[in-house]
Amino acid sequence: MALTLSKKAMAVKASSTLAITAKAKEMKANGIDVVGFGAGEPDFNTPENVCGAAIEAITSGFTKYTPASGTMELKEAVCDKFREFNHLDYKPNQIVISNGGKHSLSNVFDAILNPGDEVIIPSPYWLSYPEMVKLSDGVPVYIVGPKAQGYKVTAKQVEEAITDKTKALILNSPSNPTGMIYSEEELRAIADVVVKNDIMVVADEMYEYLVYGEDKHVSIASFNEEIYKRTITCSGLSKSYAMTGWRIGYTGSSVEIAKLMSSIQSHATSNPNSIAQKAALEALKGPQKDMEIMRVEFNKRRIYMYERVSKMPYISALEPKGAFYLFVDVQDLMDKDYKGEKIANTERLADILLEDYSVAVVPCADFGFPRNFRLSYAISIEQIQKGLDRIEEFLKGL
Ligand SMILES: Cc1ncc(COP(=O)(O)O)c(C=O)c1O
Repeated sequence: MALTLSKKAMAVKASSTLAITAKAKEMKANGIDVVGFGAGEPDFNTPENVCGAAIEAITSGFTKYTPASGTMELKEAVCDKFREFNHLDYKPNQIVISNGGKHSLSNVFDAILNPGDEVIIPSPYWLSYPEMVKLSDGVPVYIVGPKAQGYKVTAKQVEEAITDKTKALILNSPSNPTGMIYSEEELRAIADVVVKNDIMVVADEMYEYLVYGEDKHVSIASFNEEIYKRTITCSGLSKSYAMTGWRIGYTGSSVEIAKLMSSIQSHATSNPNSIAQKAALEALKGPQKDMEIMRVEFNKRRIYMYERVSKMPYISALEPKGAFYLFVDVQDLMDKDYKGEKIANTERLADILLEDYSVAVVPCADFGFPRNFRLSYAISIEQIQKGLDRIEEFLKGL
């Protein structure tokens, strides 16, 4: 009995993304030339001015505890960013800086959920949402955004999924894994349903700067006072500023929720790293040119990848509008013969591609779509070219 471990912890699913990445890394270490399409992070270095601010923080002795929910100067910078970029008016006491976007989200669920509370998760979804919700004693409720709807859900679907136990809806736009973006019109309709039914929105806007083409990123909380009150806007520095390792995420919410998150964080981790906070301040306040250079480069890769995949047999994708992923429909490959074996599922397909063609893709069963895999274009164009050549060779051989 004494040795019985937490049922909740034991029920957490290990991340399949990490499993395939680990296997690909091992093959690389053994000298195999693997193309890894699994990357969930930019291949660029953190901008030099940001690194400089961190070095300055170290040499000037900014290496002690800060307030648990982040420094005032960084909260003020986040407020400025929210005002200018998202048209959202938050005061510093509504901001919590955490150890990465994931930490922000898990604080949110800890702060808002009671056991049995339902959280509506549009599928396909980022694979961490269901596990985070369950760890905070919530119950994930899925609604499906089919391909014909651009992998997005409608306000009507949200409304139909609401019960008297519903606490919140998660909205991730631009989306990981699909790269889709909700339009202002779609968001306004969803906001109306949220307000009418008095639930909350957890708006995960982590990829908000990585938007291409005509589409625009719109923050759902910006529409009116009623939706603003019910929304926790989550973002971070990881993806847009190539700062995945620095671990800085943040939220804008009501003062009440910010206080709860801050007190949870004060016991769990204390402040986010002081040096990374200085770096984040420079990222937000300093020149933005490196971020734009990365976005332009991602856009070139996006177009190249989408156009090539669109011409391949058996597989297809919708044009991604944001983030750095292509969500590939491989339904037509299921049950195809490969070396005398029927390809049973996308996990097996990913294994075949890795073992026989040295290409790592992310099968998306854990993202709610077992007939898709995800390709990241956060790798160089040469790597993308080489990897797509291999996938094409596999497909043409079928
Ligand atoms: C949709 C989404 N939200 C949040 C995060 C968390 O980012 P971070 O690395 O800052 O924890 C990720 C990272 O993959 C993500 O894809």
